[in-house]
Amino acid sequence: MGLSNCKLQSRKQVGSSWVGNESENPFEILLNKKDRTCLRESFQRLQEPKEIVGIIFVDIVNDIEPDLRAVFGVNRAPKAAMLSMPKLGGHVARFTDLLEQITSMLGVSENLTGAWQLIRKTGRVHAKQSFLEQNFNQLEKNYFEIVLNVFDHRFIPYLTGEKEEPLPEGQAPRKVRFAQAYTPDVIATVWKKFFSILVAQMTDAFELERSKMRNSQNQKTLAPHQHIENEVKKKKRISERQSEIEHTANSVEKGPEQLFEDPF
Ligand code: HEM
Repeated sequence: MGLSNCKLQSRKQVGSSWVGNESENPFEILLNKKDRTCLRESFQRLQEPKEIVGIIFVDIVNDIEPDLRAVFGVNRAPKAAMLSMPKLGGHVARFTDLLEQITSMLGVSENLTGAWQLIRKTGRVHAKQSFLEQNFNQLEKNYFEIVLNVFDHRFIPYLTGEKEEPLPEGQAPRKVRFAQAYTPDVIATVWKKFFSILVAQMTDAFELERSKMRNSQNQKTLAPHQHIENEVKKKKRISERQSEIEHTANSVEKGPEQLFEDPF
């Protein structure tokens, strides 16, 4: 059996995309068990992660990538009202849920395959966003990298305890705070690694999905023209066969060539 066949057999299909076997899972290769527990425990220390994610996204659309304002439907909204707009508010909620879900899969249920599938699926769904479909460029404008780089600087300090968490109005900080089992350096290093895995996996899944979409779009565009070409070929084949039949029929009508006795 060829190498490519072996490789294919060790892969399994997830939705419309392929993920490799466990030995290729970046959450397995690049993070050890202690790293994964650290991710989960440091995330769980946050009382209201959505508040922090919201503040960061508002800054991204205002100061870092204003082109994303239209994507998130906040073009005309004042800064203070942006998070109550459904698209931006929805994205902040989904982004936070994703962190919650993945850190739980990595640090609690140890469902590393599930975590990998989930992040690849998240990359894929973004190919359907027309802004990203048209403007995402791995080398110049990798929007996943832009966003998660901001998270490196702005989110990690809350995880390490370097910064005090913002809480919604009227909400008091938790009275009992668990002692942090990891040093700020360890937490920062693990989260940076985690974010870089997200960038790499989302980018790869996004690119694969986008080229698949473009290929099928191209085929649809080509189809009418191909239909005409095929029709012409078919007609030609039919008329060739017809003339062949007629030719044979003529020969049969004439009957076999008659041999006359030589009179001489
Ligand atoms: C949807 C996460 C970056 C635009 C989502 C969803 C998640 C997510 C979990 C929901 C997916 C689902 O429905 O299955 C992330 C993460 C990002 C990221 C982790 C990391 C960098 C971006 C960027 C854009 C974007 C840069 C800018 C175009 C959207 C839009 C949706 C979406 C428009 C559709 C749903 C909605 O309106 O909330 N994202 N996203 N995302 N994302 Fe992102």
